[in-house]
Amino acid sequence: MQFASLLFLVFSASASGKILRSHLWDVIFDQHAGEPQQKKFQLEHFTDDLQYSLETLSYCPCENQLLCMPLEEAKRKHESADHVQKYVEKNNKKEVFAFVLECDITVWSKFYWDKLTTIATAGFYDAYLVCHAHKNGVKVVKMGNIPTSDLPNSHARLTWAKVHASDVALKFLDGINIDFEDAIDDGSEEQRGLTSLVQETAEIFHKIMPGSQVSFDVAWKAGGIDSRYYDYAGIGNASDIIFIMAYDEQSQIFDGSCTARPNSDIYRAAVGIQSYLKLGIPSEKLILGVPWYGYNYPCMSLDLNETCSIEKVPFRGANCSDAAGKEYPYSFMISTFNQHHATYHWDKDSLTPYYTIKDETGQYHQMRYDDPRSLSYKYMLAVASGLQGVGMWTANFLDYTDSPSAVEQQDQMWSLLP
Ligand SMILES: *[C@@H]1O[C@H](CO)[C@@H](O)[C@H](O)[C@H]1NC(C)=O
Ligand SMILES: *[C@@H]1O[C@H](CO)[C@@H](O)[C@H](O)[C@H]1NC(C)=O
Ligand SMILES: *[C@@H]1O[C@H](CO)[C@@H](O)[C@H](O)[C@H]1NC(C)=O
Repeated sequence: MQFASLLFLVFSASASGKILRSHLWDVIFDQHAGEPQQKKFQLEHFTDDLQYSLETLSYCPCENQLLCMPLEEAKRKHESADHVQKYVEKNNKKEVFAFVLECDITVWSKFYWDKLTTIATAGFYDAYLVCHAHKNGVKVVKMGNIPTSDLPNSHARLTWAKVHASDVALKFLDGINIDFEDAIDDGSEEQRGLTSLVQETAEIFHKIMPGSQVSFDVAWKAGGIDSRYYDYAGIGNASDIIFIMAYDEQSQIFDGSCTARPNSDIYRAAVGIQSYLKLGIPSEKLILGVPWYGYNYPCMSLDLNETCSIEKVPFRGANCSDAAGKEYPYSFMISTFNQHHATYHWDKDSLTPYYTIKDETGQYHQMRYDDPRSLSYKYMLAVASGLQGVGMWTANFLDYTDSPSAVEQQDQMWSLLP
C-alpha cells in the first residue's frame, strides 16, 4: 500500500504551496506514481497538514474565496456571510439530497437550488459546481466505493478512508457518500469489515472536517436484498445519513412469472422505511430516495390486460430480474410517451404509472417509471413518516432545454419536492 505515504508527500507539498491542486489530485489518484521515499505515515501528521492546507487555500476557483470552505466550517468561522445564512436557514427545512451524474453548467444551473440541501456527485468533479452549490447553501459530497476484497483488511480500509478524506478536503467538499452494493454473506468477515469501514470513515471525516457529512446508500429494504447482508444497524449508527434507495425493487423477482413490474412501489417504500426504523436507525437520519428514471422492458409477449412478459435474466439467486429491462431518464419516458401517443395506465397496487408502445420493428416495450403523480405519494410518505427528507437518482434526468414543455417538466418535478 503506497497510498499512505503518498498522502504524506501530498500534504507536505500542499502546505508549502508548491504544487498546484489540480496536480495534487492527479498524484493522489495516480497509482503508478513512483514509490515515494517518505517516512512512515502518521495520522497526526495528516491531520495537521490537512488543517494547515485548509487554512491556506490558494487555488480556489470561486469568485468569492469563502465559497471554497466546507459549509459547516464556514458556519463556525463566517456565520454572517450571505451563503452561510442561506445554509443555516436550510437547516429548518427537509433535506433534499440529489445525486448528480456528469452534466454541464447548462444543466446544473437549472436545478432548483432553493429546494436542494446536498448534492452527491457521481463520478465527476466540477469546481464551479461546488462554488455554485456553496453559494446557494448546498453541500457537495462525492460518491465512493471500495472493493469487497479490501473490506476485511484494516490497513486497506484506513487507507481508503484517508485517501477519500484528503480528496474531499482538497476539492472543498462537505463529505462523502458511500455507495457499496456488492453481495456480502451474513456473519462474514466482509460484513464486519463494511461496518468498520463506515465507522472508521466517519471517525476520520468528523475529526479532520468537523461537521462533515458521511452517508451510506441502502437497498429499498433491510435484510438480504440482492444478497446484501450488511449490518444495517451498525452502519446506520455510524453514518450521518442513510439514503434508502426506494427503487430497483425488481432486482430479484421470486414470485410468479417474469413480468414487467413497478420500479418504485409505494407499499414497498413504506415496508422499507419500517425495516430501517425497526433496526433502531432514527428517522432523522433517513432519506427516502426516489427514481427520476424508469425501466424500458422489451416484452416477450403482451397480454390483452397489458401484462408484459420479460426475458428470464437471473440475478443473485432469483430467476427473473429488472436486468431484463434497461434504465432510462424521466425525460426519455415523457418524450417516448408523446412520440408514440401512448395510453397512460395507473397501477393502483403500487401507485405508479406505466405505458406500452410498439417500436419500428413491431416489438412491444413496457415502461415502468415514476412521474409527479407517483412521486408526490412517496414524498408525502417520507414527510408523514418523519424522515429527514427525500432524494433522487438523479437530478440531471430531466429535459433541461429551454423549450416550453421542458421548462414545464422541470417545474413539475422540482416544485413537488418538500
Ligand atoms: C453506536 O456507535 C457508538 C460510537 O461508535 C458506540 O459506542 C455504540 O455502541 C454504537 N451503538 C450501536 C447500537 O451499535
Ligand atoms: C392477464 O391475462 C392473463 C391471461 O391472458 C392472465 O393469466 C393474468 O392473470 C392476467 N393478469 C392480470 C393482472 O389480470
Ligand atoms: C429457478 O428456476 C428453476 C428451474 O425452473 C427452479 O428449479 C428454481 O426453483 C427457481 N429458483 C427460484 C429462486 O425461483
